[in-house]
Amino acid sequence: MTPPTTLHTRRLVLRPFTIEDVNDVFEYASDTEWSRFVPVASPYTIKDAEEFVTRQMLKRWDEKPRFAVELNGVVVGSVKLTIEKSLEIASLRYSISRPCWNQGLTTEAVAAVVDWGFDDIGLQKVYARMDVENIGSWRVMEKIGMIREGTLRSHGVNRGVRYDIHYYGILRSEWEKRRDLI
Ligand SMILES: CC(C)(COP(=O)(O)OP(=O)(O)OC[C@H]1O[C@@H](n2cnc3c(N)ncnc32)[C@H](O)[C@@H]1OP(=O)(O)O)[C@@H](O)C(=O)NCCC(=O)NCCS
Repeated sequence: MTPPTTLHTRRLVLRPFTIEDVNDVFEYASDTEWSRFVPVASPYTIKDAEEFVTRQMLKRWDEKPRFAVELNGVVVGSVKLTIEKSLEIASLRYSISRPCWNQGLTTEAVAAVVDWGFDDIGLQKVYARMDVENIGSWRVMEKIGMIREGTLRSHGVNRGVRYDIHYYGILRSEWEKRRDLI
């Protein structure tokens, strides 16, 4: 079984959640701009943050590793892989606090987790899906070398409103080629 892991990037530390992270999570997740595309309770309370952090601490790391993203000692977001072991694929979820947007921080965090998924877990494919209107989200996927594989129409519902979903993916062979270029 894969033990909980800590990853270091140029600006970030990615590590398992601890109970001390509750206030940091509350700080970014209670921002309604942050949660526009994220299905969390609204209004978001400190109890919601406590439940979120506790859930992460209880999850099996080899199935659903979720890294807390730490910038200068503060948790500003998270990156999660949901691993489908029998298929050797994983889906990716990510978010970062509003003051951190558009500084390349999610790209940096996600690239490190995707590298870890291919290198250490031995995945054959990583994929992600998002509301087509979440341009920042699909731009992150393109910047780490993912390809848009398709768009499913009216495939999700967010707070009562139906939306279209882009699917992005990267295969192990594409990731290896990309790594050789860096
Ligand atoms: C989506 C999200 C993860 C992006 O994180 P980020 O740290 O801002 O991402 P990065 O800075 O690494 O890259 C974002 C890219 O999208 C671009 N972008 C963002 N909004 C854009 C818009 N409205 N139109 C065009 N480009 C946009 C940025 O310019 C940047 O590209 P560039 O580096 O080529 O300039 C972040 O906004 C977030 O956490 N939002 C709330 C939660 C969420 O939506 N999570 C994703 C659920 S699928």
